Amino acid sequence: MENKLMEVKELLKKYKQEQLLVCYDKMNKEEQEQLLNQILHIDFEQIMQLYEKTKQPINIEKSTVEPISYVDKSKLTKEEVEKYEKIGIDILKKGAYAVVTMAGGQGTRLGHKAPKGTFEIGVGEHKSLFQALSETIKEAQKKYQVEIQWYLMTSRENNQQTIEFFEQHNYFDMKKNNVKFFIQGELPMISKEGKILVEESGKVKEAADGHGGIFEAMRKSGILQDMKTRGIEWIFIAGVDNILAKMVDPLLTGLAIEKNCLAAGKSVVKSNPQEKVGVFCKKDKKPNVIEYTEITPEMAEKRDANGELIYGESHILCNLFNIKALEKIAGNKLPYHSAFKKANYINEKGELVEPTQPNAYKFEAFIFDAFNKLDDMAIMRVKREEEFAPVKNANGVDSPETAKKLYLDFMKNKA
Ligand code: UTP
Repeated sequence: MENKLMEVKELLKKYKQEQLLVCYDKMNKEEQEQLLNQILHIDFEQIMQLYEKTKQPINIEKSTVEPISYVDKSKLTKEEVEKYEKIGIDILKKGAYAVVTMAGGQGTRLGHKAPKGTFEIGVGEHKSLFQALSETIKEAQKKYQVEIQWYLMTSRENNQQTIEFFEQHNYFDMKKNNVKFFIQGELPMISKEGKILVEESGKVKEAADGHGGIFEAMRKSGILQDMKTRGIEWIFIAGVDNILAKMVDPLLTGLAIEKNCLAAGKSVVKSNPQEKVGVFCKKDKKPNVIEYTEITPEMAEKRDANGELIYGESHILCNLFNIKALEKIAGNKLPYHSAFKKANYINEKGELVEPTQPNAYKFEAFIFDAFNKLDDMAIMRVKREEEFAPVKNANGVDSPETAKKLYLDFMKNKA
């Protein structure tokens, strides 16, 4: 332990991060050991580079952006629907389809003091987001007479609570063996002055590394291997906060296979050209998502001969990947984006600071930064009112209130 402490002290001196040991003397032996190990796992070079990047102006790469072709589900003929669905149902029937829910986010905008998936939007008696999603899977299991594996990505912060919630609810009557959790990676949070923060427990303050962390997390945690062992070929990945996510979709699967694509994505058409959403596109001939901050007003307004926005296909975090695509992506590093957030921390005097304004950088990878590792993606436009009811903010747009209305209307129309 003494040697380890010396090693850590030298490392911290080198990177001017000595504050990370501020609580060390007050900790018991086990906590001390954990802290030292945590520090030794930090890639300080990477963190310092990410910090330096926060001070540079955002560099919008010079790339060629072009529209991506898409299929509008509502315009498919009956024959096309039947053909694609049959291909997708065959995949389901042979047990080669799985669902992944990304539930590692902090849900800061919603402000719910527990994992976001435990949040009840007020539909049905105590129906949580997790329960609503489980119902979607169970309905598909019944419809297609199959068992579907459900993987959930959590974070170190919410993993325990998430598993306890599933235990308390008897895994929503799904087979426990068919539900698997895995924890995503983390990166330290850093102050405006470049100091890594210490959390209330005295350990390094780390935060989940964004939904783009999913690929590496699946590889490192053995989930990719587990999928291969089970013969899973197609994996639908979506967030925990879209209560209408249609995660079992043979039509989309069939479309991807028919188009010879290793991935597919669902889009909803932008509600207006200025809507602040990322849209599917091709960047340098590869599939990608262009953020609303990167698109010029002229591009945003541009329409095709049929009057459709040519950059109108919003990315709704509902994507399907072939296992080969996941393996390929997991071997690549995705870029990190920084976000300036409010974060409590322990200062160099050992005092707790609870800021009222953002004070720290958090680094996150985005799932769509992986799309350009693939040659093409099949994009299918679906109806917002059928597949997209996000719960992001406590009030106003994309809030429990708007999601509840969308969900109840959808259920009424389905009945
Ligand atoms: P958001 O980007 O909306 O983040 O995540 P969030 O954590 O839910 O909410 P805010 O931004 O803090 O208010 C979209 C989806 O990606 C998951 C979230 O759980 C949500 O399902 N996600 C996000 C992760 O699984 N891990 C992350 O590190 C970030």
